Amino acid sequence: MNYSKKTVKDVDVAGKKVLLRCDFNVPQDKKTGAITSDKRIVAALPTIRYLLDQGAAVIACSHLGKPNATFESYVKKQVEKGKKAEDLTEADWKKSLAKLSLRPVAERLSELLGRPVQFASDVVGPDAKAKAAALKGGEILLLENTRFEKGETKNDPAFAKELASLAELYVSDAFGAVHRAHASTAGVADYLPAVSGFLIEKELEIIGGALANPKRPLVAILGGSKVSSKIGVINNLLNIADTIIIGGGMAYTFSHAQGGKIGESLLEPDWESYALDMLRQAEAKGVKLLLPVDTVAADAFAPDAKQQVVKSGEIPDGWQGLDIGPETIALYSAALEGAGTVIWNGPMGVFEFPAFAKGTEAIAAALAKSDAITIIGGGDSAAAVEQLGFADRMTHISTGGGASLEFLEGKVLPGVACLLDR
Ligand code: 3PG
Repeated sequence: MNYSKKTVKDVDVAGKKVLLRCDFNVPQDKKTGAITSDKRIVAALPTIRYLLDQGAAVIACSHLGKPNATFESYVKKQVEKGKKAEDLTEADWKKSLAKLSLRPVAERLSELLGRPVQFASDVVGPDAKAKAAALKGGEILLLENTRFEKGETKNDPAFAKELASLAELYVSDAFGAVHRAHASTAGVADYLPAVSGFLIEKELEIIGGALANPKRPLVAILGGSKVSSKIGVINNLLNIADTIIIGGGMAYTFSHAQGGKIGESLLEPDWESYALDMLRQAEAKGVKLLLPVDTVAADAFAPDAKQQVVKSGEIPDGWQGLDIGPETIALYSAALEGAGTVIWNGPMGVFEFPAFAKGTEAIAAALAKSDAITIIGGGDSAAAVEQLGFADRMTHISTGGGASLEFLEGKVLPGVACLLDR
């Protein structure tokens, strides 16, 4: 994939109506609906400010959550969850949509920008059309949740064309959603010149740069619970990285495949032969693949479980590995010394439980000290780094969870591929 894409700086935006796709898929409090983190709104500010300062009329749009765009799809989903179809009403469906309105985002955005943000109560309906038509340079309008339209996730060309007709230029800054081939993330680019905002530009430059032309040695730290969800990344990085460090729950599938005793630890039996194949491939390609040498085992999956450190492959029956052990921390920290680039995706243990967060904390601390280009991809590792207060010591913390994972897998990202090449 070509990572060199035109940006807002390569086109004339003054006086233009610009459709700006943001990723305002913000976390919300389940009960009150209040925004619990405005990080994604803050991340979009540089592009928004630039466009407004240049005199563009900004028509911002985004999805929020996974609403059911039709009453039929709402009923289907609820029935799957065990509800009875005859108990469901259109009023219930509308209530579910109201919870995913972008109106609170417009309010927060307005506070952050220090200027009014207009809000349209539909996406391509009469309100959006009238407000977009009347919007002047230097003004900003936020459309309602794009997923309220059934054509959005289907990437329906008719919907994409209608959305595009509100503007003269498309700017995407929704890195978190570039792995989705939806109408507002990719389809609209068939009808408008399409360029990136500063957020996507930075993600492409740093992650794309690390994949295409890394400062070596390139060390990848891959954690998380399942081999199956990291397979694509491991496969791709086996061709790029000098060292791959494995941690988290997936390490136990490797250990079991090698004949180790893993007690009650997480195991994906279907992926054992793949794990062995990966070890063979790493050897054949000259990639150093490091596995934990010890583990912190617990007698239950609980924050206050009894714990003991044991050698990898020697976990007693009734116990389960929940973190990497101290020898592994020393081994992994040493492997990070002298790295040119480090890519980290996935925690080393169950870091939500403070008693089993030491491995993840130690890796975060080692990266914070490192002179390497440090790239944190994925929701959990980013959360860990932020929680520990190391965020400003990293070169880059990706704003995309699924998107950064697919980027690391080497997949084509539809929301990037649709932008104009440089
Ligand atoms: C995210 O939160 O990862 C992005 O906004 C994409 O959301 P989605 O998984 O609902 O497409």
